[in-house]
Order: sequence, then C-alpha cells, then structure tokens
Amino acid sequence: MSILVTGGAGFIGTNFILHWLAGGGERVINLDKLTYAANASNLSGLGPDKYRLIRGDIGDRALVSEILNKEKPRAIINFAAESHVDRSIHNPGEFIQTNVVGFFNLLESLRAYLALLNEESKLAFRFLHVSTDEVYGSLSPEAPPFTELSPYAPNSPYSASKAASDHLVRAYRHTYGLPVITTNCSNNYGPYQFPEKLIPLIIINALKGKLLPVYGDGRQIRDWLHVNDHCRALALVLEQGTLGETYNIGGQAEKSNLEVVETLCDLLDVLKPMNDGKSYRKLVAFVKDRPGHDRRYAINPEKIRRELGFQPRYNFATGLKETARWYLNNSIWVQQVQSGDYLKWLETQYGEH
Ligand code: NAD
Ligand code: TYD
Repeated sequence: MSILVTGGAGFIGTNFILHWLAGGGERVINLDKLTYAANASNLSGLGPDKYRLIRGDIGDRALVSEILNKEKPRAIINFAAESHVDRSIHNPGEFIQTNVVGFFNLLESLRAYLALLNEESKLAFRFLHVSTDEVYGSLSPEAPPFTELSPYAPNSPYSASKAASDHLVRAYRHTYGLPVITTNCSNNYGPYQFPEKLIPLIIINALKGKLLPVYGDGRQIRDWLHVNDHCRALALVLEQGTLGETYNIGGQAEKSNLEVVETLCDLLDVLKPMNDGKSYRKLVAFVKDRPGHDRRYAINPEKIRRELGFQPRYNFATGLKETARWYLNNSIWVQQVQSGDYLKWLETQYGEH
C-alpha cells in the first residue's frame, strides 16, 4: 500500500511526509515538479521502501496515469501549487497554469483511473485537496472568522486560482462522485518554509543585519498555525473526514504582521544577540504595501474540532521560538535555498542588488 503526495518537496508537503512516515504511515510516492520552492534534499534521507520521488507535473496526464496504474495508491494528497501571493502579482500565468489547468488535469487523470477500479476500491479511495483560507477574501476587524459556509471572495491571483481548484473539486464530487475532501487552512509557519514567506524572510534578513520589510502599516492580521498541527489535521481528515465535505483548519492565533515581526526580533535578541547589543527591532522598515493586500484572515475551527476532535498542540509563542531555533540550527539548509532564483526574487520584490 502507498499514498501519492503531490508537491511533497515544498514546505508543508515535506513536513507532512515526515509526519506521516514517523507515525507509521504507508510508503509515500512524491510527485513534484521541483520548482524554485522545492527542496528534494529535505527528504533524501528516506529509504526506497518508505519513499519515492518522481520529478514531474501534476498536469502531465500520461505520467500521472502511469503512476496511478503502477503504484496503485489508496489516496492522493494534493499540495502541489504555486503558493506565494507576491509572485502571483508579478506573474499570475504560472498560477493559472498549475493551480487551475494542471489541477484540472490531475482530476481528469484520477477520474480515468477510478473508472477502472472496482466499487470497493473506488469507495475506499481518497483525494484530499489542500487549500487555503485566502479563498474567502478579507475580513473587517470585527467580522466573525471564516466558516466552511463563508462565501468565496478571492482577491489575489493566487487565491483566485486556489478558489478555482476548490470549485473544480466540488464539481467533480457533484457530477462524477469523486471521493474528495477539501481543507482550507490559515497561514502556516515552521521548519523548511522557503524564505520568501514572512516568518523565514524576517529571521534570515535579521541574522544578516538586513532591513525587515513590513508592508504598509503592518496591521494586517493573519491566523497562524504551526505546520505540524496542520499535518496532524490533514492525516485526521484523510482517515476520518466525510467525503464531499470541506474542513477549515486554523490556530486561533490572530496576530498583526508587525506583532509577528517584533516578536521575532525579541526572540532573536535572546537567541542570537546583535554584535552592537541593540535590538533587531531597529531593522524594521515599513515599505510599499502589496497591491490588493487583504487586511485580515481568521478561521473558525469549530467543525473540525467537533467532528474529528482536532485541536492544535502548539501555541504561537512556543511554536515561533522553536521555528526561530530551527532556522538558527539549520544554517546549511538556509544557505542552500538562497540560490540564484532567490536572489533574483529579492531584487524583483524588494529592489535588492
Ligand atoms: P510550497 O510553494 O512550499 O510548495 C509547493 C510544492 O509544489 C513545491 O515543491 C513545488 O515544486 C511543487 N509544485 C509546484 N507546481 C507543481 C506542479 N505543476 N506539479 C507538481 N508539483 C508542483 O507551498 P506550501 O506552502 O508547502 O503549500 C502547499 C499547499 O498548501 C499549497 O497548495 C498551498 O496553496 C496550501 N496552503 C499553504 C499555506 C501556507 O501557509 N503555506 C496555508 C494554507 C494552504
Ligand atoms: P506571506 O508569508 O507572503 O503569506 P500570505 O500573503 O499568504 O498571507 O505574508 C504574510 C503577511 O506578511 C502578509 O500580510 C504580507 C506580509 N508581508 C510583509 O509585510 N513583508 C514581507 O516581506 C512579506 C513577504 C510579507
């Protein structure tokens, strides 16, 4: 028995595969295009009895069909996506290609494969689509958090492409009876996150003595969840979730971006004090805001708590401290991911040379 994970060489996929195998889960086949966001070496220590990496695109129907027919996984967990909002503003085409067109082809490959299975195997199969709370758009400060019934109102090319994929999942359930479940999760943080995203970017910039870019007034709010909690929730949904349902996943840890950046500065002041004895806070720099920047996301996690008994284990303060320590203790990983592509991105987004 095996499961097929797509996009498993990225941030959440890597953490999921490690979590899955540590918990005694079946062998994992990881189909990953290995884009700039991937790091195949995260998982290179896993033996072939536990793990196989296949470099390829979720949109390649011939390849996906070959994998399904040969490996006969009992489930697919789809992480593969272009995932960074700022990149989607600079280059939306890639997001439509992978998150919509590629994703559609993945569903088509699955539909063709399931048509060949007997009724029992078909009923036992699971397609878990990993999505985001950003599909619901932006909340005002007083609005109640998103539930599974909140209307879709995506505001960035990234969130619009993810919303499209969620709608396709829904339609394939309704029309073809595909055995699907969707999860919509809030912002994740933790080990192996590519440093284009806020938390690792701030840690890495701070350690280099570079400015810490805060978009606009820094009062935008995100609801942070440690990636290990997300992975536990996903494994639970895979085993116990109801077909055709969607589950919101969040940490009930709403923080403004400025609060996150200042907390990281305070943590680093203790873990790795600056040479001049000053606080990293002196590096905070308010920069031009992201176009169309959503003000607030927040998740109401009541459904997954009530139906599946899921509760996060990390609180934000300890989770963030552990994350800062991970980046300090993994300087080789940090060095390796800052490739030419990363430096090019810093130039495009922050005007660094
Ligand atoms: P990531 O960018 O770190 O990793 C994405 C992975 O997908 C990479 O390994 C990349 O090589 C791979 N990939 C991209 N295009 C592909 C394609 N066409 N075929 C095969 N592989 C491809 O992303 P992440 O942060 O790990 O997010 C994983 C999923 O979780 C995404 O679908 C994202 O929308 C969703 N999500 C992320 C967050 C978050 O805070 N990071 C929160 C909620 C939901
Ligand atoms: P990000 O990690 O890109 O996640 P998302 O846009 O999916 O929420 O950004 C988190 C928040 O941090 C978001 O409100 C944008 C803000 N941000 C900054 O203020 N400065 C930065 O350099 C980055 C990358 C993000």
